[in-house]
Amino acid sequence: MVISGGIAAYKCPELVRRLRERKASVRCVMTRAAEEFVTPLTLSALSENPVHRNMFSLTENNDISHIQLSREADVLVVAPATANLLAKMANGIADDLASTILLATSAPIMVAPAMNVRMWDHEATRENMETLRARGVSQLGPNEGDMACGEFGFGRMAEVDEIVTALEDFFEGGVRLSGRRALVTSGPTHEPIDPVRYIANRSSGKQGHAIAAALAGLGAQTTLVTGPTDQADPPGVTVVRIESAAQMLAACQAALPADIAVCAAAVADWRAAETATRKIKKTDDNPPAIELTRNPDILATLAVAGPDRPKLVIGFAAETENVVENAVAKRAAKGCDWIVANDVSSQTGTFGGDSNRVHFITPDVEDWPRMSKREVATQLAARIADALEGGS
Ligand code: C5P
Repeated sequence: MVISGGIAAYKCPELVRRLRERKASVRCVMTRAAEEFVTPLTLSALSENPVHRNMFSLTENNDISHIQLSREADVLVVAPATANLLAKMANGIADDLASTILLATSAPIMVAPAMNVRMWDHEATRENMETLRARGVSQLGPNEGDMACGEFGFGRMAEVDEIVTALEDFFEGGVRLSGRRALVTSGPTHEPIDPVRYIANRSSGKQGHAIAAALAGLGAQTTLVTGPTDQADPPGVTVVRIESAAQMLAACQAALPADIAVCAAAVADWRAAETATRKIKKTDDNPPAIELTRNPDILATLAVAGPDRPKLVIGFAAETENVVENAVAKRAAKGCDWIVANDVSSQTGTFGGDSNRVHFITPDVEDWPRMSKREVATQLAARIADALEGGS
């Protein structure tokens, strides 16, 4: 475990304790600044191992070299990961023991960023994190909330529970999709009518975002192409924000090749045939007629046979009647492998809600019980991993 100098370091003793409870062997490496927030003695007592702080202390009793340290770990957890340490990692800087180990290791790395919201939002940090994710580093958090500096926003370190769960997943098969690339669409699309008006729908993006998070949690290198939503970026996922269906299609095609494509977005079926360049004036006598034209079907396009076709293409079917029947027909019409069908009638509360009751069509039909969208995502990701392990 690498601990860098943020106030969230105060949670590390608890994290170490929880990992020891699970019989993990834990070695702590601290940056100089981390020692301002938590004492080496505490971490050493809880980890039952010496704490490593200095590059040049190889003569110290019980100390082992940085190369040994970086090789013996099954996984490296950086918690908290400060903006500074992320920047060093992204740029290959090795100027202390912590950054040297992170450069020397070939073990998987998980980072739990923690910093002031503005530092997290800074383009430099975003780009560094993007670089690290593209190299396969998994990201936990940060979460939204009150911060020690008195501000509110994204920047709080992931909770100890979340880090422990991520590590449990890692050891229990969190690598099932490692080396696989996944593409997920989510949210609504906005189709412009004029510079201020657009056609939209009520999709919240909850299900699509949860699927991206679940696939990344199993180790897939995941790109999420999303329309406008309030959802936080799922940890460890490359997020591409678009507005219209045409932009979503282009972003999806740019993200290929992929092994897995899950189209959970509620793409607008229609767009204005022409987008007015000026705001359409309101007059009493002539409400404007907006001519509509069909949008590209992203799912059907991705499912077309060819060298770039993902091995598994999965669509959603939001229906209000004859759900299974329509979804079975949709699977054939779209050319996709699986359909996750749900009833979005208003009384079900599915659209925008937190739970979902789906029928899983492969072409066999399975009726899944009502569960949270997060659980649907976890189940779907597990089925995807099963299929890819079985198939290729
Ligand atoms: O045709 P329908 O909209 O019912 O199909 C739903 C499925 O197709 C969803 O998986 C949705 O993401 C996808 N879709 C798409 N592009 C469209 C319309 C729907 O990818 N233009």
